[in-house]
Amino acid sequence: MKVVIPKETANGERRVAVVPDVVPKLSAAGLEVWVQSGAGLGAHHDDSAYQESGAKVTSDLIELFRGAKAVLKVQPPTLSEAKLIPVNALLISFLYPARNHEVTRGLAEGQVTALALELLPRISRAQSMDALSSQASLAGYKAMIIAAARLDKIIPMQMTAAGTLAPARVFVMGAGVAGLQAIATARRLGAIIEAFDVRAAVKDQIESLGAKFIEIPLESSEGSGGYAAEQSEEYLSRQRELLSERVAAADIVITTAAVPGRKAPILVTNEMVSRMRAGSVIVDLAAESGGNCEATVPGEETVFNGVNIVGILDVPSSVSVHASQTYSRNVSNLLLALLKEGEFNIDFSDELVNASCVTHSGEIRLGFGGAATGNNS
Ligand SMILES: NC(=O)c1ccc[n+]([C@@H]2O[C@H](COP(=O)([O-])OP(=O)(O)OC[C@H]3O[C@@H](n4cnc5c(N)ncnc54)[C@H](O)[C@@H]3O)[C@@H](O)[C@H]2O)c1
Repeated sequence: MKVVIPKETANGERRVAVVPDVVPKLSAAGLEVWVQSGAGLGAHHDDSAYQESGAKVTSDLIELFRGAKAVLKVQPPTLSEAKLIPVNALLISFLYPARNHEVTRGLAEGQVTALALELLPRISRAQSMDALSSQASLAGYKAMIIAAARLDKIIPMQMTAAGTLAPARVFVMGAGVAGLQAIATARRLGAIIEAFDVRAAVKDQIESLGAKFIEIPLESSEGSGGYAAEQSEEYLSRQRELLSERVAAADIVITTAAVPGRKAPILVTNEMVSRMRAGSVIVDLAAESGGNCEATVPGEETVFNGVNIVGILDVPSSVSVHASQTYSRNVSNLLLALLKEGEFNIDFSDELVNASCVTHSGEIRLGFGGAATGNNS
């Protein structure tokens, strides 16, 4: 069965869905891997590396997609890419159907079975397929490195003959996978770290990484599946008031707070930024879903009242080698788990398939709001 790895076309995307190292694993399962010429270049894998690993390489899109049974991608396809995917073929990728209506409709019309990696449940069987975690972890690390590079101070304490330099203070808001990795990285660099999350359950994890968990006297709404729920505007307003001092005291603020399927909550207002020391840095990893900081301009680095605000998008792409390596494992583990007796078995009694399958047999299965509510567009 033919499995296709197209070149990513999204602006600035340097990842590739499958690296050459993973090709032999797919071939051993009886799959024939086809790669679009140049697909791996952003992660420094040239065509010859794919050929040596046993893949076929072509620059002819018609030849690439002809007879494909599965297509593996990182970013959601464009509508024209979706139209290249043969009827009844499987697509595994990040898809974000709630913000990609037209493409989702196109996939349904093309009778593609599309599985969205971001919708896989976080159950132990799916841990090796969890691309949200593998990519968020790299993003959290890189956010701290970017912040350190922008800061006009060093991070660790230094005792020199010219006096003692105090360590930088880092405040991490949102301690999911990315936030915890940002904390771990800040710790390795020698920062003093504080962190906050609406889920009090992360307190122990924050403390075990050597950071201080900031508690606030507020009841947050419980989410499900380990995720945060969307908090009320009253809660967020009180949260901002109570955390304003912590933001003002920080040299670096890293915000990662997301609520699946929703716009990111505003955790840092312009007024809060105005209280920070000029030269401080905010890296807003939630820029992708609007930003946690009122002043963030998604995709840009700006300066507000002397504070550097980094609204960087697609951070994992900036570490494309490791991001592609881990993504390849995630996507191929899911693909191989579906392979039964030489076919890709789309069994809706399997919760991995049921939770992640966005389109199948011409239907949009998952609502554009993210819930499994059938075709509601
Ligand atoms: N296989 C597994 O068991 C597995 C794997 C990965 C993650 N998880 C869990 O999934 C959950 C979500 O992780 P994620 O990194 O994808 O989260 P995410 O990217 O959806 O959100 C990032 C963090 O922001 C927090 N947040 C939301 N609103 C906030 C607010 N107003 N103020 C402060 N923080 C706020 C969330 O609680 C979360 O910790 C976590 O519990 C994580 O431990 C489980």
